[in-house]
Amino acid sequence: MVVLKTGRELKIMREACRISAGALKLVGSAVEAGVTTAELDRLAEEYIRKQGAVPNFKNYEGYPATACISINNEVIHGIPSNKRRIQSGDIVSVDLGAKLDGYHGDNAATFACGDISEEAKRLMDTTRESLYEGIAAACAGGRIGDIGYAVQSYVEARGYSVVRQFVGHGIGTQMHEAPEVPNFGIKGRGIRLLPGMTIAIEPMINIGKPDVKVLPDGWTVITKDGSLSAHFEHTVAITTEGPKILTVV
Ligand code: MF3
Ligand code: CO
Repeated sequence: MVVLKTGRELKIMREACRISAGALKLVGSAVEAGVTTAELDRLAEEYIRKQGAVPNFKNYEGYPATACISINNEVIHGIPSNKRRIQSGDIVSVDLGAKLDGYHGDNAATFACGDISEEAKRLMDTTRESLYEGIAAACAGGRIGDIGYAVQSYVEARGYSVVRQFVGHGIGTQMHEAPEVPNFGIKGRGIRLLPGMTIAIEPMINIGKPDVKVLPDGWTVITKDGSLSAHFEHTVAITTEGPKILTVV
């Protein structure tokens, strides 16, 4: 069931999302050669708690950390570890969220450590741009397929592929609510977009093939062909005045 949020609820979500965005920005600014992914996770957790919110990934279906940190060929859900050090040239996808007064925020971005290859840079840029294409298509009166179509056509025109096994989602009092928000699709198909819907749009884009697999840790998702992958995500409200990005500081 798709839950439409009232103005009062959107105000709370905006705060949860502001905290989520602040934590993501902080972690992004701390990405540097030599830092461990566990150190980055700690920064995020401390920040979120200091703002009076709760890290909403922690214990979600048994997930052990505040952030998912996925490097290079890792697509999503990388588990922070004090054995994993970021190196110059890595691209580092950070996904995290906060819960405040019963409402969730969720966002992600891929950050560069030091000098990265031109191909990595282009992948990151294209993935970020595809998120904004998807957001621009999230208009009341449209349909869910409009979003996926916007992302997919943008990405595929540039030679990249869209991960199919994982999708965006509704968000509110639950981190994952209906509807699913695929990053691929057909214009005009799927459920109608209505004012008051809040969704997380989150393209996961590979340089190579779209296929992914889960590592034996049960969480880390990697590209099957070993190619680089990037991930950007915003929580967005659909309003009569157009899509509003909630995950901004
Ligand atoms: N926030 C992720 C998403 O974008 C889900 C992370 S799963 C978790 O949907 F277990 F790490 F929380
Ligand atoms: Co999400």
